[in-house]
Amino acid sequence: MADFKIKLAIIGVGRMGITHYSIINSHPYVKITSVADTSSLILNLMKKYLNGIHTYDDYNKLLDQEVLDAIIICTPPSLHYQVAIKAAEKGIHVFSEKPFTTDNYKARELAAIFEHKKLVNQVGYVNRFNDIFRTVKNYIEKGVIGNVIRFKSEMYSRTITKTEEGKTWRDSRENGGGAVFEVASHAIDLVNFLIGKPDKVTGTSLTSIYSKNVEDAVNSTFLYKNGISGTLNVNWSDESFRKPTNKIEVFGSQGKILADQHGIKIYMKNNSSENNLREGWNTIYITDIFKPVPFYVRGNEFTAQLYHFAECIKNNTIKNNCTFRDATNTLDVIDAIFNDFELNGKF
Ligand SMILES: NC(=O)c1ccc[n+]([C@@H]2O[C@H](COP(=O)([O-])OP(=O)(O)OC[C@H]3O[C@@H](n4cnc5c(N)ncnc54)[C@H](O)[C@@H]3O)[C@@H](O)[C@H]2O)c1
Repeated sequence: MADFKIKLAIIGVGRMGITHYSIINSHPYVKITSVADTSSLILNLMKKYLNGIHTYDDYNKLLDQEVLDAIIICTPPSLHYQVAIKAAEKGIHVFSEKPFTTDNYKARELAAIFEHKKLVNQVGYVNRFNDIFRTVKNYIEKGVIGNVIRFKSEMYSRTITKTEEGKTWRDSRENGGGAVFEVASHAIDLVNFLIGKPDKVTGTSLTSIYSKNVEDAVNSTFLYKNGISGTLNVNWSDESFRKPTNKIEVFGSQGKILADQHGIKIYMKNNSSENNLREGWNTIYITDIFKPVPFYVRGNEFTAQLYHFAECIKNNTIKNNCTFRDATNTLDVIDAIFNDFELNGKF
């Protein structure tokens, strides 16, 4: 097993591509053989500093010429589908950055193809690998706060803090830009992960603050047939946040959870000695519960998600988490948000 190596390429070596490169390059069973990007600046830097890496200005050439086990897709979102479909034809496992595609029908098609071919398929909804949010899920599933009644999922970042000229992919919904695809997708995926997929989306507002062609903020309400309701509140133009921040609040019949990536505050109506929680407020920090990772960039969860991808390729009995199917469900909710706004959100 010591000689086992997953031969891997990265398609799109911008901000996330470089992050993923540094992480997966530390994995003992992975060998990065090649990268593709349309930017000559990036390719020249890769050639200069990374000895032996094959560089391509066209991902088609890379996929045709390299012998690969896996790829990581970090291009702008509108390209994820076409790269993933070509990889599937060649029997290559795929980790795709979120939102995975810009269309829930294409997402469903990809999920079916990868499942049929038994290829590992994963999307970069990194919160699913955060130890705090995993603990929150565990509490909810064990009924620690009783029955869930209502929730709030928020995400804030300082992604767009000045007037956009409409020149980047982030200012085009067609290319996968806008706060819903880029930022709210994380907050929606967290709802699907923790509470489940909503049955109805209503009361959506999309607000432009700096962007010319897309929304910078979104509010929406999620309703469930079982009576649960929740709200989504996202703003990628909030410079009061230094780093992208997810917050989740879940109110239940026996208590309440407030959590972000770094900690949980949980209010309990009663003691729960088996869960080590006392009546009233309890605080749990990420440093109390985190599982260490061998290489740290941006947060343990970024390493945990890519190591999970590599482990699933190495050992096909491991259950693949954060799959194309999961991301398809998130795109279904995104689709419902856009539809609700078109139908009901305009005067
Ligand atoms: N999970 C997270 O926390 C997180 C954070 C930021 C971005 N993302 C996601 O990562 C993806 C990339 O975002 P980013 O911030 O790295 O963007 P970016 O603009 O920094 O990088 C995109 C890269 O893709 C390259 N590219 C464009 N067209 C290409 C093509 N045809 N072939 C190959 N390369 C091409 C660009 O030259 C650029 O280097 C997006 O899907 C985004 O939503 C995820």
